[in-house]
Amino acid sequence: MKVSVKVPATTANLGPGFDCMGMALPIYNIITIEETVLPGTGIEINVISEDDTADELSLEHIPMDENSIIYKAVELLYNSIGQTPSELKITIHSQIPIARGLGSSASVIVGGLLAANELLGRPADEAALLSIATEVEGHPDNVTPAIVGGLVLTSSEEDGSIVYRKLDWPQEWNLTLCVPEYELATDISRSVLPKEVPISDAVFNAKRLAMFVHAIHTKDSKLMKLALKDKLHQPYRMKLVPGLEKIIENLKHEENVLGCVLSGAGPSVLIISEKNNLDRIKDIVKETWADLNIKADIYTLPVENNGAQIINLD
Ligand code: HSE
Repeated sequence: MKVSVKVPATTANLGPGFDCMGMALPIYNIITIEETVLPGTGIEINVISEDDTADELSLEHIPMDENSIIYKAVELLYNSIGQTPSELKITIHSQIPIARGLGSSASVIVGGLLAANELLGRPADEAALLSIATEVEGHPDNVTPAIVGGLVLTSSEEDGSIVYRKLDWPQEWNLTLCVPEYELATDISRSVLPKEVPISDAVFNAKRLAMFVHAIHTKDSKLMKLALKDKLHQPYRMKLVPGLEKIIENLKHEENVLGCVLSGAGPSVLIISEKNNLDRIKDIVKETWADLNIKADIYTLPVENNGAQIINLD
């Protein structure tokens, strides 16, 4: 038997929602798991990348054996029903740019889990899949939207369960996703974060996150402009993302821009705007990075409201 799962990319944090907010985007990885019949063949993992900018180095970072995150996720699922995975061929068709803050690792974890769950006759429900995926990824803000789609507030509770709620993204607000050619590994981007932050910074983010939720519900652009700020992760990561400070500076006086945030752990940048000044925003970002000799792909995207789905490739 063979199962394929299509999983969306995700952008996490969205400014003030560090480790607790994320959104699915219409760029996809397809993960296929096939039970192989020959005993003793073990686990085989193949990655086929359609990311032109993924150099050999980035593909080398994806372990192809039992150390891979996809294997860990699949193994946890099998173990939860008292089994061990044995002969499996896993293929990852990768379109989500790797190490760019777009949830490529979350998509692989989620795709592997959903495919294995299907092969096993669906022993795990959504809650169990969310818990296992979060255990492997370490935080729920990419895996939750990858599984359920849309914009989500998500919390990993002390007992390992995941509590999430979907929020409706206002149609009036545009998303411009700017993906530079350089990579930034999530573990490096997390390593620069402090273990503790000043209480004033924690309060700053608590206020912004509350503003964010209210602004979404009421489509309040003025409030959203205040909400899309952060003091918990972006200031520390700025030095790892050449061009970000300048992009924020250059967009500061564009009145239709509501905010410019780091996508997940970076280095991609997400710009939230209203009305139709998208070409101007794209030009500003392209030119800013071009001044630093950095090439970038820039997309205008809607929110992907569907999460991961089983698909038929035959
Ligand atoms: N919330 C995570 C971070 C997302 O910012 O490190 C990246 O996986």
